[in-house]
Amino acid sequence: MKRQLKCVECGSTYPLEEKRLRCDCGGLLDVQLDMDGAPSAAELATTFETRLSSLLPQDLSGVWRYRELVLEVCPEDLVTFPEGRTNLYELDPVPPGLTALWAKHEGENPTGSFKDRGMTAAVSWARHQGARALICASTGNTSASLAAYGARAHLPVFVLIPDGKIAQGKLAQALAYGAHTLQIEGSFDDAMHAVEEMATTHNLTVVNSLNPFRLEGQKTIILDSFFQLGQMLPDWIVVPGGNLGNTSAFGKALIEMKALGLIDRVPRLAVIQAEGASPFARAAQRDFRHFESMKPETIATAIRIGNPVNYTKAVRAIRFTDGVVTSVTDAEILQAKHDLDRQAIGCEPASAATLAGLRRLMREQIVHAGESALLIITGNLLKDPDTTIALATGQTAALGVSGSAALDACVNEPRRVPSTPEAIARIIEETLA
Ligand code: F0G
Repeated sequence: MKRQLKCVECGSTYPLEEKRLRCDCGGLLDVQLDMDGAPSAAELATTFETRLSSLLPQDLSGVWRYRELVLEVCPEDLVTFPEGRTNLYELDPVPPGLTALWAKHEGENPTGSFKDRGMTAAVSWARHQGARALICASTGNTSASLAAYGARAHLPVFVLIPDGKIAQGKLAQALAYGAHTLQIEGSFDDAMHAVEEMATTHNLTVVNSLNPFRLEGQKTIILDSFFQLGQMLPDWIVVPGGNLGNTSAFGKALIEMKALGLIDRVPRLAVIQAEGASPFARAAQRDFRHFESMKPETIATAIRIGNPVNYTKAVRAIRFTDGVVTSVTDAEILQAKHDLDRQAIGCEPASAATLAGLRRLMREQIVHAGESALLIITGNLLKDPDTTIALATGQTAALGVSGSAALDACVNEPRRVPSTPEAIARIIEETLA
């Protein structure tokens, strides 16, 4: 299928091979798929399903399996682990009122977050274009993912992260995989600004979600879910919102799936932000007439973002899906994280914003009785051990979470015991009594 770059603001088009991050007018670019001559929905579905039994790396990947709708790159340029093909779990019990609740665990990707889906697309395209070096700004997961894919591609990697505001697991990955790691005195938004400024002047390939090829990879979260659910999607898809890359990619996936006839009915997107980093939720309250950035603060460091670069595409996604945007407190996020963790879904705080947000939308009767929902669990529990241990040991107040008293029931502290079998047996029996 033919593709070109198209500006989402003014509609200008550019050849796919042109190296540019934005349109001349400053607008964001889309990889636009030419739907003329596209295979039928049935043909596409058969092709995608048939690849499930293939052992080729491009078929084993839960991204490249859908390559007709992602990007066509020759196999020598592919940088794939492979990624994707994450599990989709049914939550038990289903919250009263809902007909079903599923969780798509993107934390099961090779580097532990959904970023790998976009990164395989962006880094493969960068290799195809003969990139000199790769760069990103990150709250942690993008840098971990880029470090890994850059290492596999034998390309130098620079990552800019906000000083002291990145979860330990993510920093450990970037350092271990050999990324040149620059901790900047400032927030993610400052880092993002710096990356964009330098990219063109220093011939660096930016792989943040500003890069339209990354979003093509992230669309496959929706495609994968659709096929795992037996070619259907639920009433609601609930996703955390930070830089709004996923929101944008999901909107684009749904626009294309509808145009291709893979779906008739479009599910509604629910984007959930942390209250302290909720510029998109605030803009939604004003029906997107006015956007104001904010100084972000939240325990969910992955989504500690005050000026999301994908704003325009995310507004398109909300409009197309009749979506909603809301925000939740850090205490609500931690409560939801505890509840997901106890189902052994296990996630980092940003991912738990989905369940917290769904609960809020049910209380507000925006999500109705009789509907079904899918939570996108964006990152693995092991990414942020400090927050998980603070929650288990009742230390969340020390992390600045207000309303922490409500989290007392989440405590599950290790107990010190003598090493004698009698002492250990006594505790086991007391616990089981
Ligand atoms: N959840 C997790 C675990 C994330 O790492 C991110 C973003 C998001 C949700 C938000 O996704 O930006 O598409 O709205 N992390 C980026 C990073 C910003 O640098 O790792 P988004």
